[in-house]
Amino acid sequence: MNAIRTATSKDVPAIVEVTNRAYLAEAACIDGARTDSSDIAAKMRAGDFLLLADAEGALTGSVYAASVRGRGYLGLLAVSPAAQGQGLARVLIHAAEDWCRARQCRYLDLTVINVRHELFPFYRHFGFAPRESVPFPRPDVMKVQLHLVKFTKALYPPEQL
Ligand SMILES: CC(C)(COP(=O)(O)OP(=O)(O)OC[C@H]1O[C@@H](n2cnc3c(N)ncnc32)[C@H](O)[C@@H]1OP(=O)(O)O)[C@@H](O)C(=O)NCCC(=O)NCCS
Repeated sequence: MNAIRTATSKDVPAIVEVTNRAYLAEAACIDGARTDSSDIAAKMRAGDFLLLADAEGALTGSVYAASVRGRGYLGLLAVSPAAQGQGLARVLIHAAEDWCRARQCRYLDLTVINVRHELFPFYRHFGFAPRESVPFPRPDVMKVQLHLVKFTKALYPPEQL
């Protein structure tokens, strides 16, 4: 049940569905669906989606991993609401870290919208630290004033960096 697999193009609709269902958590501050099939397909050309499924094969979690100018990037972390609180995000985050290490990335970056205060201790728990604020890239869908907080984690101990 906790076996990670790499998505193929056949998984695009299910990734859209599980991601949008999880990101309803941001519906109060961002207008519209979080993603769609063309966004997922474009990301898949640049990186990989790593997936978890239940015993029937239905997706329970998804995360995007990419290497951007030599640094790892983790995005669209999503766990199906019914499967949250069972350690699936831990499995997905570790899979994304392994994916990035395998591609010689020494650091892993992600962004969080500033209003998701509960995610700050969540990502700190996994060793990420906030580094800088950057503008929210889609002002057209903001329901409230937003910016992104960029978090970074070293993927190796300091003596190996
Ligand atoms: C955020 C999200 C991915 C977490 O998924 P999850 O499967 O419920 O998380 P897990 O059960 O794997 O929890 C992982 C760990 O974080 C810890 N944790 C959870 N909330 C925490 C918090 N607020 N502060 C500190 N630690 C926290 C858990 O105790 C657990 O620790 P452990 O593995 O050491 O026991 C999920 O709630 C989700 O999909 N949310 C909607 C989409 C979203 O917000 N994505 C991230 C946007 S940047």
